[in-house]
Amino acid sequence: MNESTFPGTEQNDFEQYDAGAQHGTEQPEPPAAPAAEAPAPPQRTLTPPENYAAMPRPTAKLTAEDLAPVSDPSGPRKIGPTGRPMPDLPEVLPPTKTGPAQVIAMCNQKGGVGKTTTTINLGAAIAETGRKVLLIDFDPQGSASIGLGVQPHDLELSVYNLLMQRDITPAEVIQATKVPNLDLLPANIDLSAAEVQLVQEVAREYTLQRVLEPIIPNYDVILIDCAPSLGLLTVNALTASNGIVVPLECEFFALRGLAMLTDTIGKVQDRLNPKLEIVGILGTMFDGRTTHAREVLDRVVQAFDERVFHTVIRRTVKFPETTVVGEPITTYAPSSQAAMQYRDLAKEVLARCPAG
Ligand SMILES: Nc1ncnc2c1ncn2[C@@H]1O[C@H](COP(=O)(O)OP(=O)(O)OP(=O)(O)O)[C@@H](O)[C@H]1O
Ligand SMILES: [Mg+2]
Repeated sequence: MNESTFPGTEQNDFEQYDAGAQHGTEQPEPPAAPAAEAPAPPQRTLTPPENYAAMPRPTAKLTAEDLAPVSDPSGPRKIGPTGRPMPDLPEVLPPTKTGPAQVIAMCNQKGGVGKTTTTINLGAAIAETGRKVLLIDFDPQGSASIGLGVQPHDLELSVYNLLMQRDITPAEVIQATKVPNLDLLPANIDLSAAEVQLVQEVAREYTLQRVLEPIIPNYDVILIDCAPSLGLLTVNALTASNGIVVPLECEFFALRGLAMLTDTIGKVQDRLNPKLEIVGILGTMFDGRTTHAREVLDRVVQAFDERVFHTVIRRTVKFPETTVVGEPITTYAPSSQAAMQYRDLAKEVLARCPAG
């Protein structure tokens, strides 16, 4: 697979989207005509609701099976937040065995889009199904570690030691969390040195894959929380993974930089890891009351089609609160809408990447 697989992700397309959206002039000027009689060029802005209604709807490529309602075979399907008919999400059965792990990187070089929140809460939701889950904090900010109640500056050993010291084993660094079935490979600021030191290494892009190899049989799912960059650490994460989830904040500049991300993914697929696939694009911080958020999601669906998860994560103050208490939403507020959304996401991820 290469970047040409993703329709509409060419740099120009997104630049045009951003530029057109900013200035409200997506269409070219009409040919020269007498100034007074010139028809106004067709315009599309991102805000008025009537323009939203007129926009072409994304074409859903759902199978007949997806669309067959369980309860009422003749009833109409509800349109989900992504503008497509909402399928019945498959129930997750208990695991029948452990491993080999599906390794999935949360990746978007844009900062603050919900990578860490998704790693922690998707991981916790999968762990609830009885599957063994390992979260790898692969960001020197140590946010995933903090979000699970681990203080990065107190760590004696972190993922940095595992990468750089051959005599350190994963078992020495991995910690159990308060959530059953959920383990953490923590990180702290030391990891920023690895980005520089790895450059000298032979097969530097394969370092994380090499250290993970012995523990792949011990887990059903390994989620890697990437830093907001496309540097060597992120390339290591993509090389060690078989799937990528791209969290995307449902806001104006969300699509900016996606072309660069898909380009990097394409290069990793071609040169380092042909089994890498995009598992899905996840809309985060969605505010369904604004037409703007819906238009951004529509545009993402037009570009990525059925790769966009039907589940979206709505904006709520609950997530910042969970960081303070250092636990996932699934245990902090188990019956909240936010916890249910991450459980739905777990169903979609496990349907696309069967594990356990
Ligand atoms: N659905 C949501 N609703 C409201 N706030 C959210 C939501 N998801 C995440 N947040 C908050 O947004 C901030 C950024 O989220 P998060 O740390 O998950 O992003 P990130 O992509 O990992 O950031 P970075 O690129 O810095 O690693 C955090 O304060 C988090 O609590
Ligand atoms: Mg983060």
